[in-house]
This record gives sequence, C-alpha cells and structure tokens, in this order.
Amino acid sequence: MIQKIHHVAIAVQSLEDALRFYRDTLGLPVHEQATREDQGVKAVVLTIGQSEIELLEPLGPDTPVGRFLERRGEGLHHICFQTDDIDKDLAELKAKDVELIDQEPRQGLVGRICFLHPRSTKGVLLELAQPPE
Ligand code: CO
Repeated sequence: MIQKIHHVAIAVQSLEDALRFYRDTLGLPVHEQATREDQGVKAVVLTIGQSEIELLEPLGPDTPVGRFLERRGEGLHHICFQTDDIDKDLAELKAKDVELIDQEPRQGLVGRICFLHPRSTKGVLLELAQPPE
C-alpha cells in the first residue's frame, strides 16, 4: 500500500552548488551521501520532516541523469512514493497496464525500488520504494 511521499529528487549540475541552497540557505540536514557507479550518479539526501529531498549529480554526460540535464536542465527529476509491499503494488500496477520502467523491484538508494514510466503518470517519473524495516 502506498503510504506517503518518501522523497522528491532534483537533478543538479553540482551537488556542492545545490547544497549551498538546500543545506545552507534552507537549513535542511544532510543525512546520507552516496555514489552509485551502477546508476551513474552521486546523491545527497536531506531530511525534510517525514520526507526527504534527494539531490542527484550525474557522474558523466552519458548517464541517465546526465542525459536528463542535457535535455531538460536542472529541476524536478522524480517523486518517490513509499510502500510497505512493493511486490504486491508492482504486480497490481502491471495488472492495470501501467507502463513500467522496472519489471521487477531492484536495490536502490532507499531500499527496494522500481520506476513507473512518465507516459503512465501524466509526465512525472514516479519511483516506488520499500525502505528496509
Ligand atoms: Co529516488
């Protein structure tokens, strides 16, 4: 079952530059930093109440976030909904003919995740995540 907005992800050219606004100007605390070579991305996660802001900097131009920046510039990259049962939710979405990017959940930054295609969601890349217990 979908429970809440887990995080909002923003694609940025430079994490250092983005942190000057999100951490220093807004005062949001950083709680995680990670480089995911397999996804071509460096990420910083900031806490905002019960949710998080995820800043994504590409490791190079030929990565998913690098290509996103090239096409669209900096800005909203995806929204992540938290679920308590990603296997069940994904199976139900499949049965309802929702267009998926991931056919099966995979390990992501915040637990088991999968992405739904913006064609099925009115133009927003949607992530579902089941954080570890
Ligand atoms: Co995310």
